[in-house]
Amino acid sequence: MKKIAVIPGDGIGIDVTDEALKVFEVIKSSGTVIDWDIFDYGADKYLETGITLPDEEVENFRNNYDAIYIGAVGDPRVPDMRHAKDILLGLRFKLDLFINYRPVKLYIEELCPLKNKTMQDIDFVVFRENTEGLYAGTGGILKKGTPDEVAIQTSVNTRKGVERIIRYGFEYAEKTGRKRVTMSDKSNAMRYEGDLWQRAFEEVSAEYPDIEAQHWYIDALLMQMVKRPEQFEVIVTCNMFGDIATDLGAQLAGGMGLAASGNIHPGKTSLFEPVHGSAPKYHGKDIANPLAAILTVGVMMEHIGYPEWNRKIEDAVLEAVKTKNVPRDLGGPLGTKASGDYIVEQLSK
Ligand code: NAD
Ligand code: IPM
Ligand code: MN
Repeated sequence: MKKIAVIPGDGIGIDVTDEALKVFEVIKSSGTVIDWDIFDYGADKYLETGITLPDEEVENFRNNYDAIYIGAVGDPRVPDMRHAKDILLGLRFKLDLFINYRPVKLYIEELCPLKNKTMQDIDFVVFRENTEGLYAGTGGILKKGTPDEVAIQTSVNTRKGVERIIRYGFEYAEKTGRKRVTMSDKSNAMRYEGDLWQRAFEEVSAEYPDIEAQHWYIDALLMQMVKRPEQFEVIVTCNMFGDIATDLGAQLAGGMGLAASGNIHPGKTSLFEPVHGSAPKYHGKDIANPLAAILTVGVMMEHIGYPEWNRKIEDAVLEAVKTKNVPRDLGGPLGTKASGDYIVEQLSK
């Protein structure tokens, strides 16, 4: 029995999780043994009670669940994102989920905003370092609210942290038959962290002589993602650059409505969420595309030992995009619920 902790969260996180849960039901009723509990952490709870995500709950997830599934968090009533930081970044950090796995895969050519690019051209994976960098939370504000105010946010890069995400990129390439790993940093300007990333990349890549080690500075990487995306197979980068590169990546493959992700520590309770946020203006309007959330169920199933469900879910989504049984962001006529129902229908065939 695999147990999943589900946090729908805020905004369209709630809408798309409703559809993802329909897929959970299909999986359960087909005999694959999963079960889940729903947790109401999010902006409403925080505003009512001051509770974001208690440490005891993190321990509960770690000890009693095989995976965590989150819709999205973020609410305009909480402008400093206090609750979202504790829930999303809190889980990533406390569970040491150092791999943010974000595949960029074009399902059909017409979804690509670039001219003359095929499905073979846009098919790569980004591994975003997920526990350090500018997200580490080190720094502070001095003399707040005065003309002499100073804000400092430092980037934390440990040898262990940098090496393990780079190594994971090479291991993944080796395991999946990919031939090139691209590391991206800003070592021409960020001398100290750049030095560490460069040395770690050089040393780890030497252990994988059959895989080409490529490097782009992050500004050039983003340019190349648009100009010649076909060169990319596996990209490894730091937390902040990975955040930025994967929104661009999502757009190359049809937009936020299709971008799935996993926050992973191999062998430990990991966290799965679509790349998109809570898009508050769409909440409750039956507009949000649930396919990213549904593809994320597949990524989660693969991680907890049922890769066949990932394939089935991807096939169902491919059928949906081919036949235009998709929401309006992908050029189709369906609402959130009908889009989820279409996938359930495909999976039940
Ligand atoms: P967003 O991803 O929520 O939305 C940006 C735009 O992308 C939307 O206006 C919409 O046009 C499109 N979009 C996103 N998801 C879609 C979907 N499923 N279907 C159709 N269109 C979709 O990003 P934002 O507006 O920058 O952020 C809104 C809130 O979400 C903020 O509070 C932000 O911090 C938070 N956020 C949370 C997560 C997360 O929980 N993982 C991720 C990103 C942003
Ligand atoms: C993401 C989001 C988060 C991030 C925000 C909501 C803190 O943008 O998961 O991509 O920056 O990691
Ligand atoms: Mn992001």
